[in-house]
Amino acid sequence: NGLITLDRGFKNTGSCESAITFLNGEEGILRYRGYAIEDLADNASFLEVAYLLIFGELPNKTELDNFYSDIKKESHVDEDVKKILDGFPKSAHPMGVVSSLTNALIAFNPSSVNVDSEEDMYKAIVKLLAKFPVICAWALRKSKGQPLDYGDNSLNYVDNVLKMMFKKPNEDYKVDPVVSSALNKLLILHADHEQNCSTSTVRIVGSSHAGLFASISAGVSALWGPLHGGANQAVIDMLEGIKEDGGDTKKYMSKAKDKEDPFRLMGFGHRVYKNFDPRAKIIKKSADEVLNNLGVQEPVLDIAKGLEKEALEDDYFVKRKLYPNVDFYSGIIYRALDIPTNMFTVMFALGRLPGWIAQWREMRLQKEPIGRPRQVYTGETHRELKPIEKR
Ligand code: CMC
Repeated sequence: NGLITLDRGFKNTGSCESAITFLNGEEGILRYRGYAIEDLADNASFLEVAYLLIFGELPNKTELDNFYSDIKKESHVDEDVKKILDGFPKSAHPMGVVSSLTNALIAFNPSSVNVDSEEDMYKAIVKLLAKFPVICAWALRKSKGQPLDYGDNSLNYVDNVLKMMFKKPNEDYKVDPVVSSALNKLLILHADHEQNCSTSTVRIVGSSHAGLFASISAGVSALWGPLHGGANQAVIDMLEGIKEDGGDTKKYMSKAKDKEDPFRLMGFGHRVYKNFDPRAKIIKKSADEVLNNLGVQEPVLDIAKGLEKEALEDDYFVKRKLYPNVDFYSGIIYRALDIPTNMFTVMFALGRLPGWIAQWREMRLQKEPIGRPRQVYTGETHRELKPIEKR
């Protein structure tokens, strides 16, 4: 055991070499394949970013058209998957539904499992990029008790997601450009974040050569927790709670600082960013724009801004370098887009999908060994086994 270095939570352990995402937490820099997140959020489509993350280069027009055309050919989800969906109660959390159905897809797409060649990997990747949004949209419609929608392949990737989620029965669906642009930006901002909890999960599950879909299903489960992607739902629940309690932000600031109180300021702090999360800056601006453009009044936005101001001036938060993270303002936008609170983390998963896929593909192409951390054993040394009547 003397040779094992203990690093709880892998705070200082690099698990791989990766050429996908560069993150400088001290300076608040985030780049995908060398491109600044700010440039991509303002100027690229989510599908272009997905291509960039997975294959390493921004696509030209033909490459992008071919990629999307391959995805569209795979957008059918087997009718029997619907029967599995029907088996869930309407109250099921959509993250559980999405994780389960992603795994269930393996039964209907067995060729996606043993993929050693780049060509087979490509086929599995395209299938997942096509079917995952369908499942996410179905999970939402199920929770609303609405019939399923099959999408419209004449729309772009993001607009098709919107249609599958929000088309009302017996009504035409017209994509609102403000909503489309906001969702495009949010998905890009969530698309990758190097070796976070869910991505490390995807890589470690995939390192046993479990297939892509099984690895991504595990990633969805890891993302669900409130310390990770589930924070976006937890932030809105917290802001609502503060509003209902009279809007006293100071009281909740004190609770967050009290070590005897388990309450944490959700949407604050980050394992790597010890400066402003660059995604939070973009999202805060976008939240203002979206609410103005859609004419939505959102009282919890004022509570959020009040909390942020107080935290940035508070010794406890300053000393620990706790800043708002990507999830602090994202829920406010999702709500303005009419996305139910328990779907927020599914939206994060939709955005993170290309990052997970890129990391899984890189891990397989680099032929990484199976992930298998060691431990420092703290249990009993050797003990004599006594017969049951003598214990
Ligand atoms: N509110 C109050 N205190 C906090 C908070 C918070 N949100 N976050 C960290 N701290 C304190 C913590 O108590 C500790 O204090 P001390 O040094 O006195 O023991 C110190 O700051 C360091 O925190 P840590 O928990 O050791 O840091 P970590 O790197 O293990 O955890 C974190 C990072 C994101 C899990 C944590 O900051 C947190 O729980 N934040 C709230 C949940 C959240 O917003 N999660 C979303 C993360 S961003 C989206 C994503 O990529 O998943």
